[in-house]
Amino acid sequence: MGLFFHLLYAGQFPIIKYEWYYMNIKMGNDIKVFNDEKVIIKMRSAGKLAKKVLDYIEEYVKEGVTTDKLNDVCHNFIINNSAIPAPLHYNGFPKSVCTSVNEVICHGIPGDYVLKSGDILNIDVTVILDGWYGDTSRMFKVGKCTKLADNLIEVTKRALYVGIDAVKPYGYFGDIGKAIQQYIETTGYSIVRDYGGHGIGNYFHGEPFVAHYDTGSRGPQILPGMFFTIEPMINVGKFKTKLLKDNWTVVTVDKSLSAQFEHTIFVNENGVEILT
Ligand code: MF3
Ligand code: CO
Ligand code: CO
Repeated sequence: MGLFFHLLYAGQFPIIKYEWYYMNIKMGNDIKVFNDEKVIIKMRSAGKLAKKVLDYIEEYVKEGVTTDKLNDVCHNFIINNSAIPAPLHYNGFPKSVCTSVNEVICHGIPGDYVLKSGDILNIDVTVILDGWYGDTSRMFKVGKCTKLADNLIEVTKRALYVGIDAVKPYGYFGDIGKAIQQYIETTGYSIVRDYGGHGIGNYFHGEPFVAHYDTGSRGPQILPGMFFTIEPMINVGKFKTKLLKDNWTVVTVDKSLSAQFEHTIFVNENGVEILT
């Protein structure tokens, strides 16, 4: 399809203009827009609960605790709040949250790993409440961390908010990665390219793919009524990723530290509402 239009219009429009147009119809059509206030209320509740899980787990994150224990505490909290942990059995994922320690970028599987002082980890929680999804993650520190780890965490959190600030109703998804990249280039760290944010709603992962780096493309338009996540993964070293043999755990190829923060957001006519 893209090639077809390319040949057809190559002589009439600047290629770059055609590509934006192509991206808009190709991807924009698939992004759901929700206008029902009842839906927004449900998404707010799901987001709020996901945030509460992260608040609740904080005091459990300490030296000597296994990531399995953190998983179980989150699982029980979610169930006790009439919700379902979305990761459990999602494409065969065996646990209820993701725990990504040190050089693990994302999708770490909770297990018998015992946290030690100096570790940093991301806990990623997604709840399904009354059929609607709330997806959020943040970093936790175990005991005393290095200055490098502290700085990476601060930079990554800032990257998330730089991305959120770039979201404007009637703006473009490409603005998000562009803004994050502009910021991250000042730090010397790198932005993971192989994984990104996503549309969300009464489904876990939908269109669009939200890149956290500058793809060089404007991407689809951001419209009021869209729900999506922004979840930059920032590495101290190179951006390249490797999937471990468990088919879930994603690590940095160069074994450098990685951090991530995630929010689910809603776009309205006036701007952005952070739901988590
Ligand atoms: N919560 C992750 C995200 O932000 C997805 C985890 S999928 C799982 O999109 F299967 F690994 F849990
Ligand atoms: Co997500
Ligand atoms: Co998530």
